[in-house]
Amino acid sequence: MSTVDQPKGRTLVFNIMRYNPQVEGDKPKMVRYEVEETLGMTIFIALNHIRETREPSLLFDFVCRAGICGSCGMIINGRPDLACRTLTTKFPDGEITLMPLPAFKLIGDLSVDTGTFMRRVSERVGSWIHSEEAKNPNLNVLEERMDPDVADKIYELDRCIECGCCISACGTMRMRDSFLGARGFMSVARFQADPRDKRTDADWYEVLGDDDGIFGCMTLMGCEDTCPKDLPHQTKIAYLRRRMVKVK
Ligand code: SF4
Ligand code: SF4
Ligand code: FES
Repeated sequence: MSTVDQPKGRTLVFNIMRYNPQVEGDKPKMVRYEVEETLGMTIFIALNHIRETREPSLLFDFVCRAGICGSCGMIINGRPDLACRTLTTKFPDGEITLMPLPAFKLIGDLSVDTGTFMRRVSERVGSWIHSEEAKNPNLNVLEERMDPDVADKIYELDRCIECGCCISACGTMRMRDSFLGARGFMSVARFQADPRDKRTDADWYEVLGDDDGIFGCMTLMGCEDTCPKDLPHQTKIAYLRRRMVKVK
């Protein structure tokens, strides 16, 4: 469809939290912007438009614009979601409020530092294959074949894009920032499903077996409700809890 054929859009009203902690004396405030809606407009496109035409200092993150990099997570009308995958047509009244994801350090406006948290989770879980072969790889032999069904199961659990939506929707996380969170549980499930990883349940108990791990989870499933990759949080949390209860 050419630009002239496009139906005339609505005027959208964006209320965006603006606050840059790097600027001395700056205070959090909500700022209103009006944007003419265009066909197929996403929150990301609207934000880009605001930044290009009116507000060059507006901070928000993006890389891929395709739901792959996980950079553009933010609170959109009260719910954590990806700005690049959220169409403005989802909001019939045309009023859209944007806030930064909570539970992460604010960089400014809608930009937060998810990287520090994700790295901590990765180090705590040990997000790499634990085995003697992995420690001392023999480069002269072919890698062992993996059953395609097993590979599919691992792939399914390995689709996390580290967007932080599940962490921002998590009640326990808001009370205790040392909590492993749904992202961490999914990572554990991924390595448990991998036959190359030789960690036992007793090893996993050391990672998960306390209130900062699976026993701190309140199972209200904010993670399941908000994960943009539809990862099976509910099933995996229940499974991990059952396995960990049996360890001691
Ligand atoms: S179910 Fe557990 S991990 Fe998921 S949001 Fe609730 S407390 Fe957090
Ligand atoms: S588990 Fe889902 S919501 Fe959580 S960080 Fe990964 S992709 Fe985002
Ligand atoms: S910009 Fe990469 S997920 Fe949205």
